[in-house]
Amino acid sequence: MQLAVAAAKAYFLNMNAIPASESLSALIQAEQFIGWTCQLDYEKTVVLTSDQWKVRARGVPHNCFLLAVVPDAGQTDAARKKAGEIILLRVTGSAALPLDEEMLQAKIKTVQTRQSPSPSDEASIVAVEEFQFSGLACRILGTFYVQEGKLRLGSDIESYLSAPLFEVYRPTGPALEALVNYISPERAAAARDEARRLGLQGDLPRFPIGTVRYSSTDRLHRGEASEHSVFHLNAVDFLARRTAVFGMTRTGKSNTVKQLVSVVMRTSMGSGLKIGQIIYDLNGEYANANQQDRGSIAEVYPGETFRYRMLPTPGFQLILNNFFVQTVEGHTTLKGLIEVNKIHRSADLEAFLSMDFSEPRKEEYNSDQEFQRQLGNHQRKVAAYQTLLARAGYELPANFRIAFEAGAGIRNKVNPSVDPANGLTATQAFEWFQLARAIQEELITATGADWIDPDTNVLMNLLLQRNDQGAYIPGFRVLQPYKDYHAPSRTTDVCDEIYNHLIGGKIVILDLSVGDPVQRERLSKRIAQHILRHSMATFNSGKHAPHIVIYVEEAHNIIGRNDALTDIWPTIAKEGAKARLATVYATQEVSSIHPNILSNTENILVSHLNNENEINELAKYYDFRDFSRSLIRAQNVGFARVKTLSNPFVIPVQIDRFDPEKERQRAGVAKPN
Ligand SMILES: Nc1ncnc2c1ncn2[C@@H]1O[C@H](COP(=O)(O)OP(=O)(O)OP(=O)(O)O)[C@@H](O)[C@H]1O
Ligand SMILES: [Mg+2]
Repeated sequence: MQLAVAAAKAYFLNMNAIPASESLSALIQAEQFIGWTCQLDYEKTVVLTSDQWKVRARGVPHNCFLLAVVPDAGQTDAARKKAGEIILLRVTGSAALPLDEEMLQAKIKTVQTRQSPSPSDEASIVAVEEFQFSGLACRILGTFYVQEGKLRLGSDIESYLSAPLFEVYRPTGPALEALVNYISPERAAAARDEARRLGLQGDLPRFPIGTVRYSSTDRLHRGEASEHSVFHLNAVDFLARRTAVFGMTRTGKSNTVKQLVSVVMRTSMGSGLKIGQIIYDLNGEYANANQQDRGSIAEVYPGETFRYRMLPTPGFQLILNNFFVQTVEGHTTLKGLIEVNKIHRSADLEAFLSMDFSEPRKEEYNSDQEFQRQLGNHQRKVAAYQTLLARAGYELPANFRIAFEAGAGIRNKVNPSVDPANGLTATQAFEWFQLARAIQEELITATGADWIDPDTNVLMNLLLQRNDQGAYIPGFRVLQPYKDYHAPSRTTDVCDEIYNHLIGGKIVILDLSVGDPVQRERLSKRIAQHILRHSMATFNSGKHAPHIVIYVEEAHNIIGRNDALTDIWPTIAKEGAKARLATVYATQEVSSIHPNILSNTENILVSHLNNENEINELAKYYDFRDFSRSLIRAQNVGFARVKTLSNPFVIPVQIDRFDPEKERQRAGVAKPN
């Protein structure tokens, strides 16, 4: 026994010899004392608390942070401030005490002797001091200590002694704020380096996004707004990183994403660093002013935002391509639409679907002559396809002409007065093919079967609604329903255009709430592929890739859990950081996310989940297991548990509501009429 006391004294002395720092002592608030540790090991501790202390500290909510400090021998405030280390705890539940059984018996006896429902005598349970003690089970999150004048947080305890009782406090206000925003000197230095590498000037930008909240019922611990402890996000945690936002429907995922978009925008505006942001918006809630949500990103940053949609809408660009110009892309779109709509397919339609409109490449042919021949065929085939589109009612781009080479022999037989090489209107082109078809046999005899390749023949069949046997087929009519997928005014590929906006630090919103789901998936992938390919190419050429953050809403619809590792989304998650691509994905289901993406995710924000499966999936990560019960139970909107790269443990936070008015003021944007 004496040995133990001596050891304890030596330990205290040792600790007190370490120079104390104001920041360490500032964490301890005398009025927030709630009890003593009575058991301690490497992982957990039991805190003995009493009702009086709990009441004075305004309660001890489940999952709250506690701080345990070794009391000094003298018990003076000055001496206490010398404490060399503080153990950080999280309340995980109640702990049984050895005397619980006897206390319960005594309580029962007291109740049995009661005469009235509200006794005022001394023997009342409330008045019996022994009855007021109970145990709190806590997990050790780490140790705050001071080294070389800096506050550090180890993620464990180094050693423990059994004899001393630690004083335990529940930090609030500024102490709690200091604790939840703590960043280790190493992480701060690394983040500063990273910020410099990323091109950010000055200090690390961090932004308030919410306040600490432990439980659904928050009358005591968050009773006064002035007592709220603000939680900040560090912008560098998000750039070139992966972030997951989980939670049941209507629990504030999109709100959180909007906060992130705004954090990135403000980082960009404050530092002059261009950061492109692209939002895959499946519900159209970022693009449209939604009555219910009082505003959207597009409204807050009108000059910085470009909106895209699959159907023509005022204020939106078409995500789609110009079928007359981006021939391959347009054909692939049509193919997807026809396949998904399960239309009856004639042999000609079948042949059309399997056509390839990519231009022949010289290296694929043995002789220049053969290459030139293929090029001629390709030109006629594209011309026939363009004529087919026009016949089906697809609007030609302004001043667009259908042009192809036809040898003098053919020209003279078909119509000597026009040369298709000079360009034809849609009507002229249709008439030309009509005439050519009428004398097809003659042409073949005169010029050899070669003048029209099988693909062009099929396209002419569709154009003229007759198959090779001369029987009627619906032909061009099959293409008529998909006219809206063609963007006649677009001159560049939509992917190039979007990528250029991103390089310019703009926000691009892809409103995917309308249009065909298959198209949606294909386009989403194609845009993501384009971004990755171009950013990787910049990175591989030794240059700095532009900063881009990709947000995917309702991610389970776009990113498949069973995607191959080589598919675009797992690749972006794995390789994107190199090319400065950040991803933020929001979904209701943790289990729907590709395991490779999840294990590469640095930041996780999660609100209410409604079943054990999802909780178990999440509990594999960091210390989310501590929140298993509360995540299922608390359904409050915006009540999130947050683990970021900079924070060593999960912090429960009530996320602020995205306030367009406030954001507009910050961005210096006038209110729209
Ligand atoms: N932190 C918050 N504080 C107050 N209100 C919020 C907060 N977060 C969201 N809301 C409001 O709650 C509603 C639902 O939020 P939100 O759309 O962000 O949820 P969601 O999880 O994205 O839902 P869904 O699964 O339907 O997409 C919205 O009206 C929103 O304004
Ligand atoms: Mg949402």
